[in-house]
Amino acid sequence: MAAEPVNLNEFQELARLALPKMYYDFYAGGAEDEHTLKENVEAFHRITFRPRILVDVSRIDLSTTILDYKISAPIIIAPTALHKLANPEGEVATARAAASCNTIMVLSFTSSSTIEEVAASSNAVRFYQLYVFKKRDITATLVQRAERNGFKALVLTVDTPRLGRREADIKNKMITPPLKNLEGLLSTKVSSDTGSNFEADANETMDASLSWKDLEWLRSITNLPILIKGILTREDAIKAVEVGVAGIIVSNHGARQLDYSPATISALEEVVHAVKGRVPILMDGGVRRGTDVFKALALGAQAVLIGRPVVYGLAAKGEYGVRRVIEMLKDEFELTMALTGCPSVKHITRKHVRTEHERI
Ligand code: FNR
Repeated sequence: MAAEPVNLNEFQELARLALPKMYYDFYAGGAEDEHTLKENVEAFHRITFRPRILVDVSRIDLSTTILDYKISAPIIIAPTALHKLANPEGEVATARAAASCNTIMVLSFTSSSTIEEVAASSNAVRFYQLYVFKKRDITATLVQRAERNGFKALVLTVDTPRLGRREADIKNKMITPPLKNLEGLLSTKVSSDTGSNFEADANETMDASLSWKDLEWLRSITNLPILIKGILTREDAIKAVEVGVAGIIVSNHGARQLDYSPATISALEEVVHAVKGRVPILMDGGVRRGTDVFKALALGAQAVLIGRPVVYGLAAKGEYGVRRVIEMLKDEFELTMALTGCPSVKHITRKHVRTEHERI
């Protein structure tokens, strides 16, 4: 393989070569049979285009606006854990790449750089991803720190009442460094079942009793807009709108939680139809090509988030690698827009794609 990767999949291979097996498996792996992990990618492959010709595409505008923030393309950095396992600069490097690509970074609650370090490192628009702790005052403290440090929105992840069963981590006895943001707040243990401190920490931390009424509590402690991440059904999408979320992220947590969840691109339209434009809908899971970005927008997403490709870029080539991953995806997306006859993201419609169940 050439040293300079030409697509996101080649970055994955470089990351695999660069990382210790335990860390690569942690990033790459999914839950149980990894059925949904494969489906997240393959479901995109079953969607084809209905390209329109003889449209003036001499100028293409990829930019879009998410919660009033104008970004260069509808491609956002998803919250993923522990970037320092990929590169010593960790989330600081990722944030710098986000700033230079003019996009949004969602910082993971399980980050290895602190909220303050990430905030000081660049002027990227940053959202903060949140899990709700059993000890609510810890969550409240983190919300305040995110607010104080200029984060613009909260992303509440709701698909993780418990950690999914990731068998590669169990086999590798995955041990993670302590989470600096949470220093002194958690007593790090190692699970006697799995040998993994990550799982023991997560299960100590996550409040499995979290329910819709707790959204009110969260709203009562912050003025930041709240996006909800991990919605896969029309029923939950409608509830989310009713409790006043600012946006919905259709996600199955990169297939790391419930195996045999639907591929997110397959679940997207159900949510889009239920929400009827009342709040913006984003999606993540399996986006590896500019064509995937286009397909998600055609099916009603305002933007996509990318998880693993960012970590692979970081592992392979640090901040530059993350920038290249985003730029490559943008370039591919721009080409897709040109070849489908869409000079701006507003021109991308449902009629530009055909899903496998649709007749010609
Ligand atoms: C994640 N994801 C995740 N989500 C979240 O809300 N908080 C988190 O801390 C993490 N951590 C995390 C670590 C790793 C290694 C991965 C791969 C994923 C899920 C993430 O935000 C996103 O939903 C998926 O990664 C999207 O799928 P792709 O792009 O990885 O296929």
